[in-house]
Amino acid sequence: MRAIREVGARAVFDSNGIPAIEVEIVAEGGVRAAEAAPRGSTTGEFEAYVLEDAAALPTLAAVAPALASVADLVRPALIGRDVCDQRAVDTALRELDGGAWFRRIGGNVAVATSMAVARAGALATGRPLYRHLAAARPSRLPVPMFNIADGAVGSNTVYTEFLLLPTTREPAAALDQGVRVRAALAARLAGKGHRCSDSTQGGWSVDLGGCEPTMELIVSAAEDCGLVGGRDFHLGLDLSGAEFAGPAGYVFPWSANPLSTADLARRYLDWVRTYPLTFLEDAFAPTDEAAWRGLRERLAGRAAVVGDDLFASDAERIDRGVAAGLADGALIKPNQVGTVTQALDALALGARHGISTVVSQRSGENASDFITHLAVAGGADWLKAGGPARMDRVAKFNELLRIAEELSREQPAGETEAASGGRR
Ligand code: PGA
Ligand code: ZN
Repeated sequence: MRAIREVGARAVFDSNGIPAIEVEIVAEGGVRAAEAAPRGSTTGEFEAYVLEDAAALPTLAAVAPALASVADLVRPALIGRDVCDQRAVDTALRELDGGAWFRRIGGNVAVATSMAVARAGALATGRPLYRHLAAARPSRLPVPMFNIADGAVGSNTVYTEFLLLPTTREPAAALDQGVRVRAALAARLAGKGHRCSDSTQGGWSVDLGGCEPTMELIVSAAEDCGLVGGRDFHLGLDLSGAEFAGPAGYVFPWSANPLSTADLARRYLDWVRTYPLTFLEDAFAPTDEAAWRGLRERLAGRAAVVGDDLFASDAERIDRGVAAGLADGALIKPNQVGTVTQALDALALGARHGISTVVSQRSGENASDFITHLAVAGGADWLKAGGPARMDRVAKFNELLRIAEELSREQPAGETEAASGGRR
């Protein structure tokens, strides 16, 4: 037992310059750790609540209600508890809130507290965080997938992330591939006279008039690096379906024609036939369940239909959705669900169902590498942490390199199944 001695908090900025709460835990023996809440740009309707004074944005004063929640509610409930008993701490946070989506204490407060406790618990035991979160030695590592481009504001792919999914199981080789394709894509964009600018998630912000020309160009950029689609890499799309769903159908920004779910599904099937596309995230709005099921049936495993906003990292929603045949993969973002234990439970459930699991960043991030440890501990198939640039993204990928090195030192090479390319 290592008792929590102090729970403090401060307002900090995230990678988008938006105020966030950072919680700091001090435990017996002088152990001290802090973690800040990440923040999504497209937030699903089923995810944990951000407690803040929205009127005070973008100043740090917006964090005042979250700071008060830590001081008045969380601190008294956690002082004296065992910092190493993550499940008990997270249960206490849920009981303290007493409702859904942490509307009382704040999902941002809950996740920052939960992550800081986990970090302090790992320090207290002297173990790496991934080992503290899962006692067993990881049998494999997640494969990094990269946001290589996303739609520029004002383009008709504004909500879309274009993902590169390396097939190699070796983290360093996957990262090498990510940076090479990213550079080759910049050269291709320049060659076509497109200005390319950094996206907030470490890829390139592009405006090529649609998904097809963008995928085309990424495949060409990969070929420039000697990489073959389907052999060395696959493509993925995060479509954020809810963002372009309207009463008349799905309307891409600046396009006058609404698409029915059947039209949209036909388009996706077309893309899967044409490109090495094997990963479709949030292809429809979460409420369009029949469309999800239909697409999954028609793809029949050729591409994974993956739920982000659909599941909001919630084990119960994943359980129901997978049983109903809606998806064969799930994103897990700790701040969607509120605590580390719930995120680990969702990962375990995904593994039991045999679906692909993807531990993911949010667009508003910080320099923490917490999600890398979570992905390793939870046996995730993939680590989705943005593009291979910008420290808020690269910090996560670099930590995967360190963990791979540590594991290879522990055991002779060859004994670890490094990673699998997902269970598609
Ligand atoms: P978000 O997007 O910030 O809207 O969560 C990130 C992602 O899905 O990768
Ligand atoms: Zn998403």
